[in-house]
Amino acid sequence: MTQDELKQKVALAALHYIKDVAIVGVGTGSTVRHFIDYMADLKGQIEGAVSSSEATTAHLKKVGIPVLDLNAVGTLDVYIDGADEVTPHKHMVKGGGGALTREKIIGAASKQFICIVDETKCIDVLGAFPLPIEVIPMARSYVAREMVKLGGQPVWRENFITDNHNVILDVHNLDILDPIKLEQIINNITGVVSNGLFAMRPADVVLIGKGTEVITR
Ligand code: 5RP
Repeated sequence: MTQDELKQKVALAALHYIKDVAIVGVGTGSTVRHFIDYMADLKGQIEGAVSSSEATTAHLKKVGIPVLDLNAVGTLDVYIDGADEVTPHKHMVKGGGGALTREKIIGAASKQFICIVDETKCIDVLGAFPLPIEVIPMARSYVAREMVKLGGQPVWRENFITDNHNVILDVHNLDILDPIKLEQIINNITGVVSNGLFAMRPADVVLIGKGTEVITR
């Protein structure tokens, strides 16, 4: 199976988690795009979705699913999202698509975080995928220097502005042995809006597309 077919398969399996759910939190990325396409078939049963990015909002609207404001909805039962890396502890690196801040907000506001990935995303130690950090534009160089002190090699994601009008630093070569601690340390750097470590609030369930199967972790 191709990687995209694995993404489709795992996206389909995630429908099980929204069976009796009126309002669904929806992440961002190519795996989630497949999920939205499948969700469209359940349109009648779904009141709406809370979206993690402008791209997801556009796709939800295109398939006819109403997009709701998180402030009006309150706590969500389920959030479905992909990841760039995920460990057996269900810690993740996210933000390859630059939507990490809104993704983290919806994850925090949800009772269940369902992570949907193909098998290439499963690793033991986070950090092979460069860690995205959303930064207030004027703090870009300062935060980059702080990340060098932490042993990383930050690269400015040029020609990219987040939905919140900030910039992204992709930090290479971090050996992330204690993801919870590093998430807190990076959050404490002035000028950081959020970072792509999802360890303080990990996934609750990870669905992995592997060969012809979907594995539930
Ligand atoms: C976007 C994300 C995505 O979940 C992550 O990049 C995975 O994307 P894809 O499903 O396209 O592999 O965090 O900010």
